[in-house]
Amino acid sequence: MVFRQHNRKYIGSKAALLDFICKTIEEVAGDLESCTFLDPFAGTGVVAAAFAGKAKEVIASDLLYANYAANRAFLCTTEENADLDKVARLIHQLNQLEGEEGYVVEHYGGTYFTLENAQRIQAVRERIAFWQQEALITEQEFYILLTSLLYAVDKVANTCGQYDSYLKNLGQPPFSSSGVHLVDGLVYSRLHLHPLAVSLKGNCQVFCRDANQLVAELPAEILYLDPPYNTRQYCDNYHVLENIARWQKPPTFGKTRKFDRRGLRSRYSQRRHAAEAFRELVERARCRYLFLSYNSEGIISDEEILAVLRKKGKVAVREEPYPVFGRGAGRAKARKLTERLFCCIVD
Ligand SMILES: C[S@@+](CC[C@H](N)C(=O)[O-])C[C@H]1O[C@@H](n2cnc3c(N)ncnc32)[C@H](O)[C@@H]1O
Repeated sequence: MVFRQHNRKYIGSKAALLDFICKTIEEVAGDLESCTFLDPFAGTGVVAAAFAGKAKEVIASDLLYANYAANRAFLCTTEENADLDKVARLIHQLNQLEGEEGYVVEHYGGTYFTLENAQRIQAVRERIAFWQQEALITEQEFYILLTSLLYAVDKVANTCGQYDSYLKNLGQPPFSSSGVHLVDGLVYSRLHLHPLAVSLKGNCQVFCRDANQLVAELPAEILYLDPPYNTRQYCDNYHVLENIARWQKPPTFGKTRKFDRRGLRSRYSQRRHAAEAFRELVERARCRYLFLSYNSEGIISDEEILAVLRKKGKVAVREEPYPVFGRGAGRAKARKLTERLFCCIVD
């Protein structure tokens, strides 16, 4: 078994919408072979990965370090910067480690993870840090091992797919007799790392930067924007993964054990600032085609989006209906949402 880039639960992931996004962008922009594709809100990086096989060069970036690490691993591995046989052997060693007491157990044991899995996460993360510190692995091998751990962690987390809270009933069966979701069934399985299905194309660059700063510095023929569309901050939703990835072991606070995330909050998830941030980014963008994914329930109004884009060029909107059932919706009934791609041909 291998971990593929889309094998994680991520709010707003476009994994299920890739056909729609790729088809629309190719129809509007035509031949992509000589183009640079810039995805500054890359998240899981599945959109960037799809274009790595189509465009000349792909640049992916995200504010969160855990996403940066995963995108580095999946998109930037080459035969020169990582020995994948060695990585497979190291993953095997990591899976054999005895669990250890420590930071993960103190902060997340018995809440986000079973105690046994918290001990395993602790032991694996410390060993990866040790190999990195002793220069026993290359920088790229480090990102691959860390990403394999993050994907394994996500599989056994006691959550509904995001970490803003954990399910309260660790130790209970997955569902109560009346069908209430108590615990994710996978929470009790043993943490297990797998190799990653990496792309070896060598045409991607990955950054951990604020989108508004990045687009001002990097021109690209095609700019694909997929900012957050509601007030739930991604640094809150994924704070546990971010903390394990950073491994600075800061204090955590409150019932949900969050660390201090100042500097990671996005303007796009703030009602008062989202529209202004979007206007600023579009004004700064240096591209020929600009595409924006923005869901019909987003906090920036259609009028605001269209006014900003029409100052930049000619605008059309393509739509794709999709049900949210199964993406963090638990056993709730399917709701219909519409995914829209705003397409702007820059004047
Ligand atoms: C809707 S998600 C993107 C999903 C992605 N297209 C995918 O398929 O996985 C929005 C992403 O933007 C990131 N983000 C939020 N504000 C940002 C900012 N100012 N600069 C860069 N990334 C930001 C979040 O961390 C999140 O991963």
